[in-house]
Amino acid sequence: MITIQHGNIYKISDYARHLKNLNNEDRHSRFGYHASDYNIDQLILNMCYHPKDHELWYARNDEQRVGWGHMAKNSDGTWELAVSVDKEFQRQGIANDLMEEMLIWAKFHHISEVYMHCIEDNRIIQHLAKKHELKTKERGDGERTAAIEVPEPNFVESNTQLFKEQAEIIAEIARLRAKLASLWLSTSHQID
Ligand SMILES: CC(C)(COP(=O)(O)OP(=O)(O)OC[C@H]1O[C@@H](n2cnc3c(N)ncnc32)[C@H](O)[C@@H]1OP(=O)(O)O)[C@@H](O)C(=O)NCCC(=O)NCCS
Repeated sequence: MITIQHGNIYKISDYARHLKNLNNEDRHSRFGYHASDYNIDQLILNMCYHPKDHELWYARNDEQRVGWGHMAKNSDGTWELAVSVDKEFQRQGIANDLMEEMLIWAKFHHISEVYMHCIEDNRIIQHLAKKHELKTKERGDGERTAAIEVPEPNFVESNTQLFKEQAEIIAEIARLRAKLASLWLSTSHQID
């Protein structure tokens, strides 16, 4: 079963690997140009320097992460949304599920505008943008942009997101407690 999870900076090397594994066509669709490994490294470095301006989501099955959603904040306060799915897992509704999670997150955090670049011949992403009520417009140079003015979350979305983010914090606290315990255990061995 595929589940969608909100990631954090610890997952960034997996994200870099996923982007570098995209074939040429998918890389072009994802970035809107032929991004090289160097361009991807620059993006990852920027994420490390400005972690608060980036949010990651991933789709995973029992064994591995198979798709990623990325939102990046711009200086004007808008956020750019991008999704990409491993070739062998495409057309299973993964990008759709990722976009749903990402847009609920955006509503909950009162982000006013989310947009994505869609190259002209990327019918699939244009379809998904429309499905999620992003309005597409031509930008020239064979490029379209799709944007949505994010509405306020309704009661159910708000509460669901609140509990989800609370669960993420509790899981992080558990991880840190386990780390603390192992630190003390290793110290007590040294004292013995
Ligand atoms: C675009 C991409 C993310 C889609 O991922 P995915 O998990 O296969 O997408 P989904 O399965 O959730 O949805 C595909 C939708 O496109 C529809 N679709 C498939 N082929 C289509 C076509 N030729 N024209 C229009 N719609 C099409 C499917 O019917 C489905 O819609 P539905 O849910 O209403 O039935 C994936 O192809 C990818 O990683 N591409 C490379 C990166 C990229 O282009 N990213 C987008 C720009 S940031």
